[in-house]
Amino acid sequence: MSGVSRLRAVVKGVGSALPKRCVTNKELESTVDTSDEWIVQRTGIRQRYIAGDDETTSTLGIAAARVALDRAGLTPDDIDLVVCATSTPDYTFPSTATMIQAGLGITKGVAFDLQAVCAGFVFAVTTAEKFLASGSHKRALVIGAETFSRILDWEDRTTCVLFGDGAGAIVLEAQDQSELAQPEQGQGDNLPRGLLASCLRSDGKHRAKLFVDGGPSTTKTVGFLRMEGKEVFKFAVGQVTDVMAETFAACGITAKDLDWFVPHQANRRIIDASAQKFGIPPEKVVTTVQDHGNTSAASIPLALAVACEDGRIKPGDLVMIEAIGGGFTWGAAILRW
Ligand code: ACO
Repeated sequence: MSGVSRLRAVVKGVGSALPKRCVTNKELESTVDTSDEWIVQRTGIRQRYIAGDDETTSTLGIAAARVALDRAGLTPDDIDLVVCATSTPDYTFPSTATMIQAGLGITKGVAFDLQAVCAGFVFAVTTAEKFLASGSHKRALVIGAETFSRILDWEDRTTCVLFGDGAGAIVLEAQDQSELAQPEQGQGDNLPRGLLASCLRSDGKHRAKLFVDGGPSTTKTVGFLRMEGKEVFKFAVGQVTDVMAETFAACGITAKDLDWFVPHQANRRIIDASAQKFGIPPEKVVTTVQDHGNTSAASIPLALAVACEDGRIKPGDLVMIEAIGGGFTWGAAILRW
């Protein structure tokens, strides 16, 4: 809509943080009945980072946020919205977002957590965009931070080899992009900057396929992650592409216009299958699962940080993020960097 005022959530900076300790598949072989060959062949994962006693979801989130702010050329004082996507909060309450807010010394605005498991970052970016587009808030820190190692049953080889810890953060700023024309079919270069479209979904009937078997109101414990791996795999490659198709349609572009596809990093085979469905070539897919394992809500911002640091994602690029998580929850979003 040329000429009509439209605030958009534009990316100003991305950062990430990983725990100090890296655990290779080989190292896991000494504690779990598994092999490097099995893990690599089924998942693509070669190593993951595991938080030590002095590292928590909020400390990782704070470290990632500091890097993102630095790259944005901003200070904590510039931020009036903090949204943290996590399923492994430091405490049942207060929210990890308020702990990150305090850790950074942010005193204005609002901070809250958002829980959509592995799809949390897509949900959090979409939520933050609504605040920025409405004009109620100016600059948001959106963080995906997790310590899944704390909810793994380390005696269950079917799950414990898949996950890792870490955090990623993105700074979004409300900018008036009204001078740019409305996108036309296939003309990605004419699109404004910022989050252009997103599509979120959930369907609670799938709970038993991926869940944690504890919680404050049921067992009064934290619980362990449980998963029907094959069922999750089938859903992830079979059905979740509906949100990708809807997001492309909402932007008026096709997969061919994308510069980068940055999916949730759960499993190499799920990533490859999702990209293939839309004919996205491997060289446009950002894959970090081999280095980080599945870090749930942190996986997309961790991957974004890697691709920005190595110069792949540049201002003006069209980037799709996409994820599925427990619930099930799933979503996709397209941003023009
Ligand atoms: N090491 C060695 N062997 C193992 C391991 C392991 N870590 N885990 C399972 N096995 C064995 C099983 O016991 C089984 O042995 P059996 O044939 O003697 O019974 C054999 O390997 C095959 O097990 P399957 O469960 O059939 O293996 P599958 O090929 O389905 O792969 C996997 C399992 C990798 C979990 C796959 O189902 C998958 O990728 N699912 C997607 C789940 C996922 O990525 N979830 C992440 C969280 S959800 C999210 O982020 C969206």
